[in-house]
Amino acid sequence: MSSSSARSVRIECRGVCKRFYYYSHRTTTLREWFIRAVMRRPLHVRSEEFILRDFNLRVESGEVVALIGRNGSGKSTALRLIAGIYAPTAGTIRVNGRLASVIELGVGFHPDLTGAENVELAAGVMGLGPRALRERYKEIVAFAEIGAFIEMPMKYYSSGMSARLAFAVSMCADPDVVLIDEVLAVGDEAFRAKCIDRLASFVERGGTILLVSHEMPTVAKLCQRAVWMENGRIRKAGPAAEVIAAYQEESGARQESED
Ligand SMILES: Nc1ncnc2c1ncn2[C@@H]1O[C@H](COP(=O)(O)OP(=O)(O)OP(=O)(O)O)[C@@H](O)[C@H]1O
Ligand SMILES: [Mg+2]
Repeated sequence: MSSSSARSVRIECRGVCKRFYYYSHRTTTLREWFIRAVMRRPLHVRSEEFILRDFNLRVESGEVVALIGRNGSGKSTALRLIAGIYAPTAGTIRVNGRLASVIELGVGFHPDLTGAENVELAAGVMGLGPRALRERYKEIVAFAEIGAFIEMPMKYYSSGMSARLAFAVSMCADPDVVLIDEVLAVGDEAFRAKCIDRLASFVERGGTILLVSHEMPTVAKLCQRAVWMENGRIRKAGPAAEVIAAYQEESGARQESED
């Protein structure tokens, strides 16, 4: 880890927007293009859009921040933007330090390669050289606890097994910033407890975590701050306990009105 004592800004998002369009029709062939042009039909028909709007976030070293909110509210989109998987439509995103993302299941893992081969590939992408990997390989495999499956193609893995390996390899690459999307949710009880311990010691040493989760007890336990997303906007941000309470109160109220 490059710095641990002085607090420094690790993630900074300013005025970030991301727009997605959904098409009810897209013209893909030349023949279809010709027919639609003759019939004066539009080539592409947009039906709806999703916009992540004015997303502002600043996370410092040693902080654990959660993104919470309903399905489709934009949490994973925000994380993917920070991870550099998506480019923002507008705004600026800065991440200082080495970034490891454990985003959804096995993103970046190749199903036809074995666990061991995928570890080599993922470690390389995260900037861990061959020598460093040789030193850490045993540690990664021991942490993941998937036994002989490490030599099998990952298409035979259960979702929990992929998540174990993804988490183990990410944490072993000496990151400064870790982005986690739902991965803790697929691990069993024992693995989740082990991950939470590992994350706690990572943060003690100055690590930064941005976590997406639907499990409020985990969020309350791990995070100081939370950001509640709703329809692509930040609805409320602040101390985790307050934001969780407001979110749960509204979810409860919605549930009652539906009953
Ligand atoms: N690559 C994409 N192309 C088009 N639309 C997308 C894409 N990725 C996400 N979206 C849309 O953006 C919206 C937000 O999705 P996102 O995955 O960020 O939600 P989420 O808050 O992570 O939800 P969940 O709790 O279900 O994981 C959804 O309406 C989704 O359909
Ligand atoms: Mg998501």
